[in-house]
Amino acid sequence: MANLQCTYLGLNLKNPLIVSSSGLTSNVESVVELEDNGAAAVVLKSLFEEQILYEAGSLSVHSDYPGAEDYLKSYVTDNNVEKYLELISEAKQKVKIPVIASINCFSASNWIDFASRIQDAGADAIEINVFVLPNDSKKKAADYETIYFTLAQKLRKIVSIPITFKLGHHFTNPLRIIEQLWFRKIQGVVLFNRFFAPDIDINKMKVVSAEVFSNPDDLRDTLRWVAMASHAVPEIDVSASTGVHDGEAVVKLLLAGATSVQVCSAIYKNGAAYLKTMLNEVEQWMDAHNYGSISQFNGMMNYGEIGNPDVYERSQFMKYFSSHG
Ligand SMILES: Cc1cc2nc3c(=O)[nH]c(=O)nc-3n(C[C@H](O)[C@H](O)[C@H](O)COP(=O)(O)O)c2cc1C
Repeated sequence: MANLQCTYLGLNLKNPLIVSSSGLTSNVESVVELEDNGAAAVVLKSLFEEQILYEAGSLSVHSDYPGAEDYLKSYVTDNNVEKYLELISEAKQKVKIPVIASINCFSASNWIDFASRIQDAGADAIEINVFVLPNDSKKKAADYETIYFTLAQKLRKIVSIPITFKLGHHFTNPLRIIEQLWFRKIQGVVLFNRFFAPDIDINKMKVVSAEVFSNPDDLRDTLRWVAMASHAVPEIDVSASTGVHDGEAVVKLLLAGATSVQVCSAIYKNGAAYLKTMLNEVEQWMDAHNYGSISQFNGMMNYGEIGNPDVYERSQFMKYFSSHG
C-alpha cells in the first residue's frame, strides 16, 4: 500500500493534505473533525493585524466608509487575541497533527512582536498572509516588495519556528520574491492566496463580494507557478493552494513539485469526510503507477523536467490559439 508521508517546513506530515486557513479551522471541534478525517495539518483561521494593534492600543480605525469602521471595531472587540492564543494551545492539546497559526497583515509595523506569543502558545509554524493590494500608481513595485522582505527579516528575528508566506498574484516576478524570502530564512511559500474579490450588483448599484469559493478551473495558475517555483527555488517548500477539488489535482501538484497541498472550498462544499475520498484517489493513483512513496514522483513534472520551459510555454500558447479558430 502506498505511503503518503511527506514533510512541509520540516514538519512530518502523514500525507500531503492540509486544510487551509478559513472558518473550517476557527474552532477546536472542527480541527479535531478534520484530523479524524485525514487532514495531515491545519492552518488556523487568520488573526488580523488589526486585532493585534487593537490589543496594543495602536489601532486607527478611521475609514472613509463608516460601515467598514463599525465592522472593524466590533470585530476586534469580539475576537480578541487571547481567544486566538487559546485556540492554538487547545488545538495543540487535542490533536496530534501540526497546527499552523496564520496572521493576515498589511504592514511590517509593530504588530510583529506578537509573533513570539504565537510561538509560545505552541504553534508548529506561522503562515503569513500579506494582504497588500498595489493600488497606488505613485509607488514602485519595489516599494511593495519591501514590505514582504522587511516582514520576513523582522519575523525571523522574533521566532524560531518555521515561517511560510502565503502569496497573492500581484508580483511582476514571483520567483524573485520567493527566492528573496528564502534568502531571509523563510522556509515555505503558499501559492496562492485567493483574496477577497469585489463584484458589482448592477441592479442595486452596490459593490458586493464575488464568489468566495474556488472552482476546479482555478487550479491552472496554481499548477503553473508551483511547477516554476519548485524548480527555481528548490530549497523552499511550496504548498499549493487554490483550485484543489479532487485527488487528481493533488497528484498533479505533487508532480509539479508541491511539498504539500492545501484545501478549503472543496471541504466547505463536501464536508470533512471528503478528505478521505481525496486521499483514496491519491493512493489509488500511486498504486496504479507503482509508486510506494511520494518522494518517488514529487517534482517529476516541474519546470526543470520539461526541457526549455520558455519554448514549451510559447509553443503551447501558439498551438492553443491556432486550434480555436
Ligand atoms: C470562507 C473562507 C474563509 C477564508 N479565510 C481565510 C483566512 O482567514 N486566512 C487565509 O489566509 N485564507 C483564508 N481563506 C482562503 C483559503 O485559505 C484558501 O487560500 C482559498 O480559499 C483558496 O483555496 P481553495 O481553492 O481550496 O478554496 C478563506 C477562504 C474561504 C472560502
